Amino acid sequence: MKKILVLNGSPKNENSSTLTVTKAFVDGLIESGEYEVEYVNLSSLNIKPCTGCLSCWGRTAGECVIKNDDIPSFKAKVEEADIFIESYPLFFFGMPGTMKVFTDRMLSMMNTYRGQGAPEDGKSFHGIRNPKPERRFVIISSCAYTEASTIYEPLKMQYDYICGKGEYTFIGVPQLKTLIDLKNEKKITRYLSKFKEAGIEFAKNGKLSKETEDNLLKPPFTESGYKVFLDNFWTEEEEKGKNLK
Ligand SMILES: Cc1cc2nc3c(=O)[nH]c(=O)nc-3n(C[C@H](O)[C@H](O)[C@H](O)COP(=O)(O)O)c2cc1C
Repeated sequence: MKKILVLNGSPKNENSSTLTVTKAFVDGLIESGEYEVEYVNLSSLNIKPCTGCLSCWGRTAGECVIKNDDIPSFKAKVEEADIFIESYPLFFFGMPGTMKVFTDRMLSMMNTYRGQGAPEDGKSFHGIRNPKPERRFVIISSCAYTEASTIYEPLKMQYDYICGKGEYTFIGVPQLKTLIDLKNEKKITRYLSKFKEAGIEFAKNGKLSKETEDNLLKPPFTESGYKVFLDNFWTEEEEKGKNLK
């Protein structure tokens, strides 16, 4: 069986809205009968922050000097996985801080920086050490905003520089928490079905078509309807706050 490894980077662990979508996508992958999956909550891992010594680049050939935390065993899982999925909420137009701490510790997977200029062809800035071209990397990130086509740009640019354009699959999921909180099971099931379909497509082709990517980015609510909903929600919350005084 091929391996899917999911890193759930939401601080809400099992209650993560993003994870709901990720599970639908994984269900689609698994339907092929070719994959088994392991889910790991980032918060369950003991991860020390990178000390910035850069030994992994030049002195220890891809080995981090920090050995007494969960990164060595988790990195081995990442290297073994056929599909590695990072699942997390968008925080301030980027990844949550805990995910950044994890990402920094993956520096040992990158080639040494020797003063080379930025690649002009969209390739990875450093290049991946010991690349495994058949390994797939998928990022699934949900958020509150509506404009998924623009607000994920800073995050995607970061992955373009790290992995290279086209070397990863990015699935942005706008307005998700509200959809989950409303508990309209019919609407949720209908919405999640497109992620399951995407998983089936990914298992078949090893990538998503542009059409599918654009379809996944479509928010569940209209912009005006969502605005009214949020206005009402926060007005009610403010009133509850006053009542507490
Ligand atoms: C600290 C913080 C920063 C956030 N920043 C953004 C943001 O920049 N854009 C956005 O659309 N949503 C933002 N959100 C909302 C979350 O991305 C959104 O609620 C997400 O769907 C939660 O996913 P989860 O349930 O998997 O944790 C932020 C939430 C928090 C707590």
